[in-house]
Amino acid sequence: MIACVVMLSLCVPALATSAYSDVPDDVWYAEAVEGLLERGIMNGTGGGKFSPNDTLTRAQLAAVLYRMAGSPAVSGEDSFTDTAPTAWYADAVLWAEQNKIINGYGNGLFGPSDPTTQEQLAVMLWRDAGSYVVNSSEETGASLYAVDAVHWLKTEELLNEKAPAFVPKQAATRAQVADIVYRYLKLKEQYPDAVSGATPSTGGKILVAYFSRAGENYNVGTVSEGNTAKLAREIALQTGGDLFEIVPETAYPVSYDAMLTVATRERTNNERPAIKNRIENFAQYDTVFLGYPIWWGDLPMILHTFMESYDFTGKTVIPFNTHEGSGQSGTQKTIADKLTGATVLQGLAMRGSTAQALHCDGTDATVKNWLDGLGIEKQTANVGQFDLDAGTVLLNSGYKMPILGIGTYALSDTQAENSVYWALKAGFRLIDTARIYGNEPGVGRGIQRAIDEGIVKREDIFVTTKMWTSDFSNGDAAVDASLSRLGLDYIDLMILHHSQPSNDVQAYQAMERAVADGKLKSIGLSNYYEPSDFDRLVNATTITPALLQNETHPYHQSTEMKEHIAQYGTVLESWFPLGGRGNTQTLFNDSTISAIAQAHGVSSAQVIIRWHLQAGNVCIPGSSNEQHIIEDHDVWDFELSEGEMAQMTALDKNRRFADY
Ligand SMILES: Cc1cc2nc3c(=O)[nH]c(=O)nc-3n(C[C@H](O)[C@H](O)[C@H](O)COP(=O)(O)O)c2cc1C
Repeated sequence: MIACVVMLSLCVPALATSAYSDVPDDVWYAEAVEGLLERGIMNGTGGGKFSPNDTLTRAQLAAVLYRMAGSPAVSGEDSFTDTAPTAWYADAVLWAEQNKIINGYGNGLFGPSDPTTQEQLAVMLWRDAGSYVVNSSEETGASLYAVDAVHWLKTEELLNEKAPAFVPKQAATRAQVADIVYRYLKLKEQYPDAVSGATPSTGGKILVAYFSRAGENYNVGTVSEGNTAKLAREIALQTGGDLFEIVPETAYPVSYDAMLTVATRERTNNERPAIKNRIENFAQYDTVFLGYPIWWGDLPMILHTFMESYDFTGKTVIPFNTHEGSGQSGTQKTIADKLTGATVLQGLAMRGSTAQALHCDGTDATVKNWLDGLGIEKQTANVGQFDLDAGTVLLNSGYKMPILGIGTYALSDTQAENSVYWALKAGFRLIDTARIYGNEPGVGRGIQRAIDEGIVKREDIFVTTKMWTSDFSNGDAAVDASLSRLGLDYIDLMILHHSQPSNDVQAYQAMERAVADGKLKSIGLSNYYEPSDFDRLVNATTITPALLQNETHPYHQSTEMKEHIAQYGTVLESWFPLGGRGNTQTLFNDSTISAIAQAHGVSSAQVIIRWHLQAGNVCIPGSSNEQHIIEDHDVWDFELSEGEMAQMTALDKNRRFADY
């Protein structure tokens, strides 16, 4: 008896009170059909019917999306050969093509009368939303071009649990189209900017601001650079944006468990953790990429502090986050709700472990596809360009490097300690050493002294060392040994000291592993004098060298190598910038150099250093004399004219002083 009642209630369709006789009130797509009819976006099939189980043609879907956009006026003709300019769907198809929502089958055909597949529906909506890439490895069964769209559809919860399963390659029913389109529409109405594909500001300056935590982390072990930080660096490289790390006033615990406790407290108390640093001129940025990890399914509270610290009115904000399963967890909407004066576009959610494995060399395809989809006009990434005001250059690894440093070649361990300390005191922020110089411990002590005296912080300085050729077969150990001798827990740049075709690839690969482990930030080469030799190594390895350090001075300007490595965004650094031991006087007394020095009231050494910087060579003069060190740094208040630069260029004799 009971079974019968149940059976009956299942078998008898509910009476339809909706506009359509074939759409029962309580059916899963009823609200959507009603909502779309009300808005004039999707109508019935005539005779009081909606025909929920019929399919919808591609032209009909274009028309639905066109109406949803408010049927804006269009002009021109679409590029398809199988559409008619006078057809009822002509405006809709033209609009959809012009807005990159459809691009046909790729052979000039659009297929206006073909039934829309479920994945085609997903792709059109996804493009309308701004082609937001969700980082997901979930198997979808979709065609390759539709995988991102289907992931997005699922993440945005546009699939109704009560509807039949989503089968990407099958034709979509009208009921299914209505339901998915309606859910998308509701999302759009609720968060217009977040999904509207609103035109982002283009051509303006880009900021990539992020919060990230190094230390013990879920899934990736203990890391020296947080997952979001890596993603931020890649985004900055690909957009040419300025990178800004949101640093908490009170450092967060390294231990994961302790971090969970702090994060819970901050959330419970709705805290606003203080931020230690500040963006000087926030107003100059038009587009702000905003990065963060997901904490407890939400934004870390420090993001609220950050958003409340600046005026985002009129800015385009693009969130990005890392997580370990929660996706973006609705945080993009939280941001859109909070930054009401800004246009918030759909962002990128990436697994922390995926972000941690990024090479950060400006080539990651997930980031690239996402940025392309956003239509952000990228600034020419300023990789390799010297910023003489800031005294830095952006490496192809995404890190900024000071362009003037102290060299320590031929300095004893004790001399190196003093020179490094004096150099940091004089304003140098780049230090160059090498394992073969035998002074890494002294360099480490010099750094520590300056840190202890509050002259610099570790993060303010850039330390380079070099792996010696005899260590090339034991590269992993060589990295660890340099770290230990320097007393540092990471090295900003490590370079192979010399080309050595028998095993330099092996050594470089050890440095690549150390990058992945966070022990090295950037890696590069030294003493590769032939383009083919440089390419040999590049072609056999993964991370493009950030820098090449070769003998370079006015008599050996390294023009050919410099032009060659520029294609890789690799920066040239000069060793023997002043000619080196025994040769400096030759350069200092050069009549052209002396005359320029006299004209500016500076020394020949200062002219040569200034020439390196203006010519785009990172310059590392060495000295054990404090006065010379101070003088070598005092090159920021004068400038060589174009004519003087040309005179310097004319001095090139392609003559090396050293024979190694
Ligand atoms: C306090 C805390 C809470 C977290 N909560 C979540 C969470 O709810 N969902 C999730 O997917 N991941 C969560 N994670 C993992 C982080 O989102 C993930 O590891 C992220 O990539 C860390 O980024 P970061 O290295 O830039 O700090 C949490 C991590 C921490 C430390």
